[in-house]
Amino acid sequence: WSVVRGLWKGQVSSKMLSHRLQGALRDYVHSNKHNVLYKGQRKANKSREEMLCQMKQQAQLRTLDGSEQPFAHLGFKQLASSKLQKMYTTCAVVTSAGAILNSSLGREIDSHDAVVRFNAAPYKGYEKDVGSKTTIRIMNSQILANPKHNFSSSLLYKDITLVAWDPAPYNIDLHKWYQQPDYDLFTPYINHRKNFPEQPFYILHPSFIWKLWDIVQSNTKENIQPNPPSSGFIGIVMMMNFCEEVHVYEYIPSMRQSNLCHYHEKYYDVACTFGAYHPLLYEKLLIKRMSTATEEDLKKKGKVTLPGFSKINC
Ligand code: C5P
Repeated sequence: WSVVRGLWKGQVSSKMLSHRLQGALRDYVHSNKHNVLYKGQRKANKSREEMLCQMKQQAQLRTLDGSEQPFAHLGFKQLASSKLQKMYTTCAVVTSAGAILNSSLGREIDSHDAVVRFNAAPYKGYEKDVGSKTTIRIMNSQILANPKHNFSSSLLYKDITLVAWDPAPYNIDLHKWYQQPDYDLFTPYINHRKNFPEQPFYILHPSFIWKLWDIVQSNTKENIQPNPPSSGFIGIVMMMNFCEEVHVYEYIPSMRQSNLCHYHEKYYDVACTFGAYHPLLYEKLLIKRMSTATEEDLKKKGKVTLPGFSKINC
């Protein structure tokens, strides 16, 4: 609970994590699988306005448009959906945390103009707590690559905007990425675009993913995990590009916080909330520090509110 309270106050460090999670963090820093080399600033005391300005200036959404090799040669320019540019007034980002169970937030979530969900998180049977509206689904490459998710046929991925991501090397070597993605998302992407050309479907540019990582590290003194940020963080910042106001549910844990990993699965691991592979603790601290939500919203709803880029004046 010291981590939860630390997050509510906007003050946490990895020392508050269990020994196991601290060990995982150290191991990831040492193995540095994606060859991250960070030479930028580390300033942990920026004001809210400074952090928001940094986001607006550095986290402009970029998707793979096929203009670069090897994707140009592979015909991605013709294949890619035209640029995402719809604007929304208010948006809800619904994380998959177990703590959203018994929240009765469904009605509030569905009242937003756009609702973002993640990976294979279902809403059927959970409408009271998570709502049912889905505008965009953000998925890591495992969802596309692993047959158990039935990506091409499952109703979860139909009639909505799809956004997929996979980490490239930190130096954004696109050739190497194409040859060795973490999980092959390119083949299912191409097949899906051919079968459903009308459905908007994007792959995030790895430079966007690593830019987000840089922003988290630049606001943290400690070495954060040199692994991509979580889908949740990616979705929050992506929606700051398209919404006047972004409401995020159960990213910063509410009073309902528990070790239940996902609301739709009986699997318990505190790493889902505070991070082992992803630099979740640091992402969450940054989001909390940028939020305008009241303490009551935070504790009761697990909700933070952020202005979209169009409402940030730098
Ligand atoms: O586990 P998965 O990545 O599918 O969950 C979607 C997102 O929800 C995560 O990327 C993370 O940002 C957030 N999440 C969380 N706490 C949990 C589970 C998920 O903050 N216990």
